[in-house]
Amino acid sequence: MQSITEIKSLRSQIKAWRQQGQSIAFVPTMGNLHQGHFSLVERAKTLADKVVVSIFVNPMQFGANEDLDNYPRTLTQDKQGLAELDTDIVFTPSVEAIYPNGLDTQSYVDVPGVSEGYCGGSRSGHFRGVATVVTKLFNLVQPDFACFGEKDYQQLQVIKTMVQDLSMPIEIIGVPTQREISGLAMSSRNGYLSEQQKDTAKVLYQVLSDTAQQLQDGARDFAVLEQTAKSRLEAAGLKPDYFSIAQRQNLKPATLEDSEFVILAAAYLEKVRLIDNIQILSDA
Ligand code: PAF
Repeated sequence: MQSITEIKSLRSQIKAWRQQGQSIAFVPTMGNLHQGHFSLVERAKTLADKVVVSIFVNPMQFGANEDLDNYPRTLTQDKQGLAELDTDIVFTPSVEAIYPNGLDTQSYVDVPGVSEGYCGGSRSGHFRGVATVVTKLFNLVQPDFACFGEKDYQQLQVIKTMVQDLSMPIEIIGVPTQREISGLAMSSRNGYLSEQQKDTAKVLYQVLSDTAQQLQDGARDFAVLEQTAKSRLEAAGLKPDYFSIAQRQNLKPATLEDSEFVILAAAYLEKVRLIDNIQILSDA
């Protein structure tokens, strides 16, 4: 595995691969890798000749009151895991390399519609930061495919919309969420949780699963389902940020005409913000 920090070196390796006719799959990450990320790399390996993984904790997607400085950085361990998977390149640029002129005058990419509400509502500017850095990374890596976890469902829709709207020649692949045996979605933020808190955190997936079952059984009183779910989360010791039943493709609020849904949820367990979702397909 090549470990590259300089943009120039990355570009020259990508150019060489392109000249040899090699295809490229890309997995952008912020590091602190776990099985969820490794499943993205495994998927990427099935798609293309070469796999590039980036590790970059992107300051542009963190709000002023968020955990940028404390975001877990575990580079040595991350590189070891990626090498074991035979990743071709791990790209770890500095903040200065990605934002040489700082953030204040940086051009940006906004994706209206799907970025609004849910995490976009609670984390102002978050999806602008994500869309901007992913665009930059796409321009550097020039992949044929890019893999993103379905756990960040809204992020996945933002990236898919951006790629379509801006005619980027990249196929976006959503990869199913990896879960602990308890059902808790794997996340870098789980590292902040004690074993006891993980026991509480798993309720988020239980409530999502129960609500999904009710929808599959024909329940359509969305407001009641959402309110019941929030009350259950509160009773378990979680503080819901949102729990919403939406249209699966465009994230607009669900209507009686819809047959495919996604239930999106975010909840705080003390200071840790957990997110998760479940999709309901029409043939499920
Ligand atoms: O999902 C993430 O880890 C980040 O939002 C991403 C896509 C790597 C952009 O910084």
